Amino acid sequence: MKIRFGADYYPEHWPYTRWETDARLMSEMGLNAVRMAEFSWVKMEPTIGVFDFEWLDRAISILGSYNIKTVLGTPTATPPAWLIEQSPEILPIDSSGITRGFGGRHHNCQSNQTYRIHIGRIIEAMAKHYVDNPHVVGWQIDNEFGNSHEDVCHCSSCKAAFHQWLLRKYVDINSLNAQWGTVFWSQTYSNFEQIPTPKITLNAHNPSMLLDWKRFHSDLIVEFQQFQIDILRRICTKHFITHNFMGFSDIVDYFKLAECLDFVSHDQYPMGFFDNPQPMKQPSKLAAALDLIRGLKQKNFWIMEQQAGPTGWQILSRTPRPGQLRLWVTQAVAHGAEAVVFFRWRTCSFGTEQYWHGILPHSGNPGERYNELKETITELVPLMNEIEGASSGAEVAILYSYEQNWALEIQPHHPDLDYVEHTLKYYAAFFNTKVPVDFINASVDFSKYKLVIAPLHFLMSSEMYMQFENYIRQGGHLLLTMRTGVKNMENVCMTDRELPGEVGNLLGIEIKDYDCLREMDMGVMFHGKHYRCNKWCDIITPITAKVVATYTEDYYAGMAAITVTATGKGKAYYVGTEPDGELMDEIVKWLVETCELSSIGSAPIGVELVRRRTDKSDFIFALNHTGKVQTLNAPEDWQPMKCGSEMEPYGMSVFKIKR
Ligand code: GAL
Repeated sequence: MKIRFGADYYPEHWPYTRWETDARLMSEMGLNAVRMAEFSWVKMEPTIGVFDFEWLDRAISILGSYNIKTVLGTPTATPPAWLIEQSPEILPIDSSGITRGFGGRHHNCQSNQTYRIHIGRIIEAMAKHYVDNPHVVGWQIDNEFGNSHEDVCHCSSCKAAFHQWLLRKYVDINSLNAQWGTVFWSQTYSNFEQIPTPKITLNAHNPSMLLDWKRFHSDLIVEFQQFQIDILRRICTKHFITHNFMGFSDIVDYFKLAECLDFVSHDQYPMGFFDNPQPMKQPSKLAAALDLIRGLKQKNFWIMEQQAGPTGWQILSRTPRPGQLRLWVTQAVAHGAEAVVFFRWRTCSFGTEQYWHGILPHSGNPGERYNELKETITELVPLMNEIEGASSGAEVAILYSYEQNWALEIQPHHPDLDYVEHTLKYYAAFFNTKVPVDFINASVDFSKYKLVIAPLHFLMSSEMYMQFENYIRQGGHLLLTMRTGVKNMENVCMTDRELPGEVGNLLGIEIKDYDCLREMDMGVMFHGKHYRCNKWCDIITPITAKVVATYTEDYYAGMAAITVTATGKGKAYYVGTEPDGELMDEIVKWLVETCELSSIGSAPIGVELVRRRTDKSDFIFALNHTGKVQTLNAPEDWQPMKCGSEMEPYGMSVFKIKR
């Protein structure tokens, strides 16, 4: 039986006598998978080299007797106290030189070779013990790489690994000096060993060094994952291997992290985290996170942690309204989740996450959340079977780049400029127009798409330039935005010509001046109407480009803000600012027209439309993210599969269209 729904289960938090009840209740609600053991190192190896899998065997077997399969997590995010006592050097050191202590989780350095010996031992023991267990189907590596990894680790092992990484990249120190521009402030190095990790200094570090540090750190995490994958692949050849990603987290290049996994999993918490100033993430942001996850391998995915109740550690989120849990699960499925595992089965009575609620409350008695999700599972499983392997059929792609994000984190220009937020403004406008969007990286063939948007493409390589050029010449529509082509890949400003450098050939523009909009916004005239824009204005001189919008204030009133140029068979668009929501919606409507993009249909504000496309049919999910009844004017060829045109608060409808 295909795994469709599951729960993150921690049997070690409850008496053994309760496990059978849990398994029965899970099976009665339609769950057929659990993820276990990702934080249970000390239970499996209570002292060094002494393994105890008896408790886990029992749990797996009880669950297995209810046809519930097990995904095991490698427990490497929680090294036990005995291990830290024995090898304190594995604790990570932050940028102020302080050793982060035992007590939370992820208190480990990822380059440390002693730690590798310890994790090698526990993973190998688990793999050998579970290779032939009929109920174990796969593995999750560690837990949420990047979570807790900011600002660590600056230990001597990481420093040496950074030097090795730099040596491989630059080969000799003079090349590094030249490419980083270390002559500035007398930072020239005479050997690699002199290069620091970016610890706290009196002033800011060299931006080229900071970018390489972020790249190194990301590569280290990918390599740390690979170390674990290699052990598992050697022993458990029939099991799948995945990892739980975190949407728009920025520490690791997720495209690289995804490469060696069988599929990507994601943790979706619509109410976010306790320190989130917003009580709820915008529906378009939830949708974008799911689309990014699908884009990492251009493949459907699992949700490994789906919000199952109110969230919070010290401070709580709101309580999901009746119907919201169902809505969010359906949204995940609509965007490509082929299995959904809820975090967590039962709310824990102790430890840091006492208020991060599971399907069951502390009491363990099934309540409204259990019932709502049980009904959701019953209605979704047949549909999931029907849409297995479906795609989005998107005609628009956003080129998403971790390196651009990192470079702009190092120098955001405007205090509020944020790569992800800027990118998501484009995404949100397509979301409002009901036009599906894929996220891609540069390895994907652009020609599959009518329109490619590459927001804030700040660092430019000649390979990227050629890829852009080929795409446009062959008929593609490429949209570039403010601060494109400013730097080379070493984070050094281009000097050989006016901005946006070589890419100006494709865009038919030059940018000789710009203005950072501190504490103000700016007027823009677009198609005869007044709008506002924020943060930054590239003041554009059109060479061959046609001006589509102009600024309306200050010394550059009347100068170009948005342009378009026909090149080869295609077109290149440039948006030299960050449009506000209203202007963005208008730009996207214009793009839909000029690029001849098809929208899924129309729906009231707050109702999301998502498409899954199979060979024979399109499945349209209508998701009401509002707390009000909404009416959908579904076209005649949309055959209702679930509910229909009248949508209850937080309700959903599904339609099928024959192709
Ligand atoms: C996730 C994490 C889980 C749990 C959950 C609630 O980020 O993977 O282990 O901690 O958050 O805080």
